[in-house]
Amino acid sequence: MTTKEQDWEELRRRCENCRACELHETRHRVVFGVGLRTSPILFVGEGPGQQEDLQGEPFVGAAGHLLDDMLSIIDLDRHNCYIANVVKCRPPGNRDPKPEERYACLDYLMEQIRLVEPKLIICLGRIAAGILIEDDFRITKRHGQWVQKNGIWYTAIYHPSALLRDLSRRPETFVDLLSIREKALEVCPQVFQRETVEI
Ligand code: URA
Repeated sequence: MTTKEQDWEELRRRCENCRACELHETRHRVVFGVGLRTSPILFVGEGPGQQEDLQGEPFVGAAGHLLDDMLSIIDLDRHNCYIANVVKCRPPGNRDPKPEERYACLDYLMEQIRLVEPKLIICLGRIAAGILIEDDFRITKRHGQWVQKNGIWYTAIYHPSALLRDLSRRPETFVDLLSIREKALEVCPQVFQRETVEI
C-alpha cells in the first residue's frame, strides 16, 4: 500500500470510530465519501440524510438522484469526481448540523481535501460554502461565483435538496453548472478524458 492509501485507510478508520460530537449517538453508518480519490473535482455537501445514514454513501436519496442528473449535464459522475460532506453523521430529522458539529468534523474534511488535492471544490449549499469559502456565505447572492484560495478554485451552487423544493432556482443552477464545466475545461480538462476508477 502507498503512503497515500494508508492515509486514506487511517482517515476512514478514524471517521468510523469518531465520537467527537453527539451525532455519533444516533447514526447508523458513518458516511465517509465516495468517488475517485485522485479527482481534480471535489463536491462537498452538508451532511447525510436518512438514506445516506442507512447506506453509508453520500447523496443516494432523492437529492442524490438530482445531483447525479446535475453532474451528468456536465459530463461528470461519481467515477470521475469525489463527493464528501461537511459532517459525516446524519443530523437527526435532517436539521442543519450545529456549528459545534461542523467544527468537530472539520479535520476529516480538511484531510480529505489534502489527500484528494482537488483543483476545484464545489460547495453544495450554504453550509459547505460557509465552512470552505466564507462565514455567513449568502448563497442567493454568491452562487456561481469563483474564488481562488491556496491554489484551489471554489464555488458554491444551490444544494440539490433546495432545488427539489424550489424549482425556480433551477435555471440559475444550470448556468452555474455550465460555469463549472468551463472552469474544469480550463483548469483540469483531463477529468473529462481520464480513464476512471471506482473506489
Ligand atoms: N445532503 C447532503 O448534503 N449530503 C448527502 O450526502 C445527502 C444529502
